[in-house]
Amino acid sequence: MARIGVLTGGGDCPGLNAVIRGIVRKGVVHHGHEIVGFRDGWAGVLNQNAVELTPETTAGILHRGGTIIGTSRTNPYKDADGTAPVRAALSALGLDALIAIGGEDTLGVAGKLTHDGVPVVGVPKTIDNDLSGTDVTFGFHTAVQIATDAIDRLHSTAESHSRVMIVEVMGRHAGWIAAYAGLAGGADVILVPERPFQIDEVCASLERRHATGRRFSLVVASEGASPAEGSGLTLTSGELDAFGHVRLGGIALELEREIGARTGFETRMTILGHVQRGGTPTAYDRVLATRFGVGAIDAVSDGDFGKMVALRGTDIVRVGLEEAVAELKLLDDEFYATAEVFFG
Ligand code: F6P
Repeated sequence: MARIGVLTGGGDCPGLNAVIRGIVRKGVVHHGHEIVGFRDGWAGVLNQNAVELTPETTAGILHRGGTIIGTSRTNPYKDADGTAPVRAALSALGLDALIAIGGEDTLGVAGKLTHDGVPVVGVPKTIDNDLSGTDVTFGFHTAVQIATDAIDRLHSTAESHSRVMIVEVMGRHAGWIAAYAGLAGGADVILVPERPFQIDEVCASLERRHATGRRFSLVVASEGASPAEGSGLTLTSGELDAFGHVRLGGIALELEREIGARTGFETRMTILGHVQRGGTPTAYDRVLATRFGVGAIDAVSDGDFGKMVALRGTDIVRVGLEEAVAELKLLDDEFYATAEVFFG
């Protein structure tokens, strides 16, 4: 029997509650552990703010979006060595190990703690699907479905009004959501962070399409997409978070203005924003998240620390935490080439 802390860090993500439920159910009922949830990610660890999690208090949360224990973008290493306060929190609460559920930042912290000998297991989470250690992260499937539903709705109004519709989706470094939702929704142009774009080429492609008699177009853009150098478009940058990331959002506004002005086509934009992260997870994400939760508590029970649970093919496996966050998984050329077949 062990006492284990759990936290959810970074942006929330549909499926977090399913992971928590999986950890608690398997941990308490099958392994005889006690589980506590830190409030608001690493902030709860630094403040030693935690609640007991039991099968009773985690019942009925499988289908719920968000995270019942809260999250934040707090970085324990931002201004100081974060290892000492984490160790202090584990000791004050009588904890033997920690499960960190998060994306590149949260798991990066987990990697540093592992390096310093703190017993941690990671669970990969991000709607962006950009963690290289796993084939898929939970939350991605839900975000793609929400974006695809939105594109379908925008499709019919674009057609009715003969407009160019621009849809901005999430995706900071990687264009997986844009590429998947764009392919599923029949996008005519997909702009992703991996491929800086030339605005005149985007406009030329829309003009070619409209010259064949098509009266409307759909452009899907990742929030992290950016114009190539010298393309005549510059973006204003926003504030930084504790991990040094710029707050994104708004590329669609620039695209609306430029495409409208350069082509003369009536153009409208929609920024989906946090709608993509809210609400109930798809069945796929509930299942993946549950398998990750069960896999993570099994890893803790085996004393297999410094690992992240991951999906490889159809199997849940354990990979080294440091390896898992060493590089981001960017959109591959083959996938983009398939989406490109349907452009224009
Ligand atoms: O967690 C990833 C993500 O959803 C990115 O796609 C996006 O850039 C970011 O989070 C938004 O973060 P916040 O909710 O803190 O504005």
